Amino acid sequence: MAYSELNTPIRTIMTPGPVEVDPRVLRAMSTPILGQFDPAFTTIMNEVMEMLRSVFQTTNEWAFPVDGTSRSGVEALLCSVIEPGDKVLVPIFGRFGHLLTEICERYGAEVHTIECTWGEVFDQQVIIEEIKKVSPKLIAIVHGETSTGCMQPLDQIGAACRTLDVLLIVDAVASIGGVDVKVDEWFIDGLVGGTQKCLSVPSGMSPITYNHRIEKVITRRKKVERGISTEEDRQKEIGMSHPFVKSNYFDISMLQDYWGPRRLNHHTEATSMLYALREGLRIVLEEGLESRFARHKRHEEALISGLEAMGLELYGNRDCKLPTVTCVTVPTGVDPESVRSMLLNEFGIEIASSFGPLHGKIWRIGTMGFSCRQENILFTLGALEAVLIRHGATVHTGKALQAALDAYSSQKKENYSVTS
Ligand SMILES: Cc1ncc(COP(=O)(O)O)c(C=O)c1O
Repeated sequence: MAYSELNTPIRTIMTPGPVEVDPRVLRAMSTPILGQFDPAFTTIMNEVMEMLRSVFQTTNEWAFPVDGTSRSGVEALLCSVIEPGDKVLVPIFGRFGHLLTEICERYGAEVHTIECTWGEVFDQQVIIEEIKKVSPKLIAIVHGETSTGCMQPLDQIGAACRTLDVLLIVDAVASIGGVDVKVDEWFIDGLVGGTQKCLSVPSGMSPITYNHRIEKVITRRKKVERGISTEEDRQKEIGMSHPFVKSNYFDISMLQDYWGPRRLNHHTEATSMLYALREGLRIVLEEGLESRFARHKRHEEALISGLEAMGLELYGNRDCKLPTVTCVTVPTGVDPESVRSMLLNEFGIEIASSFGPLHGKIWRIGTMGFSCRQENILFTLGALEAVLIRHGATVHTGKALQAALDAYSSQKKENYSVTS
């Protein structure tokens, strides 16, 4: 059977990931392959580490990608730190908090969870009190919860964790590169980012960073290179009580030996993905972190103006809204999946539904990275209005695009006044 040449439709991707990839990144991916120990390639590895430190706003020595989708970074950090029986606290405010819980449980942690209503986040003090009550070895928490479009403030939790000698591991998969994430200033010990969201690189790598506090834990669990392969031998020969990490692929001490000056062989690096990540990071740093965050805010503001002018209701508490994901309540009587299908089939626009209790109740519109552009916002608003009318929904016709355009022109005026 003959298959035709790959010919995918052109889409406007307004989901919380994967999002559109900058053409510069796609071009970088077609760069010829290098051997993974070729000095030309190890130089690229070092450059990526350096750029990651800037994007993570950290001076940590360790900042590198784990090969795999975003959860690979989450799993690598968690499985390298968690020893069976360790207490872990997971505050849950959406689907990805449950993912953290699930991973921690698989590695034998005694997981304590607290949960708040979806659409809300925790008062940081509530989490700090819970840490005092549970005395966990670590707390694992999501920063930008893509399932609910909420963002958990973290600026006080890390400092409390230092005082209480607890490790803080953060899932910033949906926020890195689109929203301020201050690893050092917020005293975050380990953090995971995503490529396919605000960095606008394809899915397939998960950049992580961690500090000396985590390095200390993983070093004492290192599987020593003396043919010691079982827990029993390890105890006998080196008398260490800390079990080695149960995953080979995700053992950060091994990844560290590969990314660090020892360059010990571990996996075969995903060369083309690293080219992509390098270009994605270069674009972020060229734009500048502050300007990039401001751009995400500007387009979010225009989108919200348009949606509200149309008469749609936003889901979730606005005080804790994640700027890169806007959740919209599906109007009564409207079939949410039929609206999404028509957007895709007639306009080539993809928006997302949500998970669990929110499935069918909200749509999620992402404004991330390269997808976060004025023409995409205007196109989505115009198309959504048309599709909702076709579905019999009551909308204020003709208002959405005008409101979004007004938002853009008032932002321009503000900008002029700033610069003049
Ligand atoms: C906040 C958050 N964490 C983790 C993940 C898991 O990422 P992946 O599906 O790339 O493994 C996602 C994916 O959407 C996410 O939004």
